[in-house]
Amino acid sequence: MKARVAILISGGGSNMLALLRDMQQADHPAMPVLVASNDPQATGLAKAAALGVATAAVSHRGQTRDAFETALLDPILAARPDILLLAGFMRVLTPAFVGRFAGRMLNIHPSLLPKYPGLHTHQRALDAGDAEAGCTIHKVTPVLDDGPILGQARVPVLAGDTADTLAARVLVQEHRLYPAVLRRFATGDQTPIFL
Ligand code: GRF
Repeated sequence: MKARVAILISGGGSNMLALLRDMQQADHPAMPVLVASNDPQATGLAKAAALGVATAAVSHRGQTRDAFETALLDPILAARPDILLLAGFMRVLTPAFVGRFAGRMLNIHPSLLPKYPGLHTHQRALDAGDAEAGCTIHKVTPVLDDGPILGQARVPVLAGDTADTLAARVLVQEHRLYPAVLRRFATGDQTPIFL
C-alpha cells in the first residue's frame, strides 16, 4: 500500500508540484491525496487540480488561529493522510495541530538549519557573508523550524548575489531534495539525505 500524502501550500507551490510529479512515477512509495492552502487564491491549487489531485482552500483571514486550524483539519482528516508535508506553507501551526501529526509532518525551510530559522533567510546569509546557503527538510515539532533534520542541500553564495538570485539557486535544490526525502521517508527510512 502506498503512503497517503497531503501537502499544505500558501502560494505557487513549486515544491508541491515537484513532489506531485515525482509521485506520478509508478515506483514511488507514496501517493498524493490532498493539496490544501490557507489562501484560496494560491495558484498552486489549480496546478494540483490539473494533475488530478483533490484540493481544499481554507482561508485564515479574519479567523482565530484555533478556528482556522479546526476548519483546516476537516479536509485533511477526510483525506486520511499518513504523511503531511508543508511546502511553502506560511502559517505557524499551534502545538495542538502539530501534535496530531507528530513524527509524520515535514517542512522545507530555505536555510541550512539550525542557521536562520524564521524569515528572510537568504538576506541573512548574505549579510553574514556566508560562503554557502541551502535548504533543510525537517520533522515539524512545536518549536518553529527546529525538528530533526531529514535532508539538506547546499549551494554556493556567489559574488553579486542578491536574496532573489540566491533564493532561485536554492529553490532548484529544494525541488531535488524534497522528492528524495519523501521517497525515503515514505518507506519508513529516516536516514538524512545530504545533496
Ligand atoms: C520556498 O523558498 C520554500 O523554501 C519556502 O517557501 C518558498 C516558496 O515555496 N518554504 P513554493 O514555491 O511555494 O513551494
